[in-house]
Amino acid sequence: MKAKPFLKWAGGKTQLIEQIKRQLPENIQQNNFTYIEPFVGSGAVLFWMLEQYPNLENAIINDINSDLTNSYLTIKNDVQDLINILSTWETEYHNIADDQEAKKEYYYEKRALFNTRKSDQTTQSALFIFLNRTCFNGLYRVNRKNEFNVPIGSYKKPQICNTENLLAVSKVLQRVKILNGDYSETLRYAPENTFFYFDPPYKPLSNTSSFNSYSKDEFDDKEQIRLKEFCDKLNEQGHQWILSNSDVKGKDPNNNFFDGLFANFNIMRVNARKSINANPSKKENLFYVFLGITPKGRAIRTYSFSFEKKEKGVQTIATIPYANVA
Ligand SMILES: C[S@@+](CC[C@H](N)C(=O)[O-])C[C@H]1O[C@@H](n2cnc3c(N)ncnc32)[C@H](O)[C@@H]1O
Repeated sequence: MKAKPFLKWAGGKTQLIEQIKRQLPENIQQNNFTYIEPFVGSGAVLFWMLEQYPNLENAIINDINSDLTNSYLTIKNDVQDLINILSTWETEYHNIADDQEAKKEYYYEKRALFNTRKSDQTTQSALFIFLNRTCFNGLYRVNRKNEFNVPIGSYKKPQICNTENLLAVSKVLQRVKILNGDYSETLRYAPENTFFYFDPPYKPLSNTSSFNSYSKDEFDDKEQIRLKEFCDKLNEQGHQWILSNSDVKGKDPNNNFFDGLFANFNIMRVNARKSINANPSKKENLFYVFLGITPKGRAIRTYSFSFEKKEKGVQTIATIPYANVA
């Protein structure tokens, strides 16, 4: 079985893999490269890369969310114990599927236990996965005290333990180094010929629409700028990268935040649908920005592309030639 994301995660990139595939640097085909994903989330691109490049021995993932990275570590190092706990909880939860009050009690007890953060790592990871599968919309949200505060979801019999997938994930993770911290720390792990895929928290399209609260620390405009400067540093060192983000210009044509910030890089606009929203009735189209890869001293491919935007019956078609960056 192919390993796939074991969590629901805002900004999961499964639907964008085809687009990312087309943008991969050509020398990646040679297999002898290092892959670093500094904002791994549920790892949709990671699992695809591991499958696509079976000889990829040097893969490094990172996330600032330690609940998340600990669950990767547990799956890598203690998957059988994790499966035992999750399958017990799944049976217990399904047994009370018709009793809403009993389910609530069960869920909120597990949430309270999770928030004590006193369980051993395997139990803590099981709690994290249990809450992800049973909470409202698979959201992850914590308050200033780092307490998970998402209410129960309305699923009747959610799958809590996908044994086959957890085993498949554990197998591929044996090839992966798992880090927890700020993305900038990953540079220390980058030898020559490293390819980075960045999928940072989105810049919100409006004050209320976008979900980007993955941890108690905010990822604001200053952070987006710091990340761009980090990309400059990668360029100087000859590394290659792709970055995706929400396309604020798709929403407001006068918003040139990313176009200005990444003026020296290639930008490719892709139409994609966002699947996690705090209000499920407000699922909206998101336009992602893909920023091209510019290995130092090498002419980059030039593209031109068009994208269509249909909003409130109005259709806008724009064709944007890419800049050629040497
Ligand atoms: C858009 S999500 C990544 C989604 C991922 N591509 C997927 O397929 O699920 C952004 C991630 O960045 C993490 N993050 C936020 N600030 C960070 C930082 N300073 N350094 C590293 N990770 C960070 C969040 O915890 C979150 O998991």
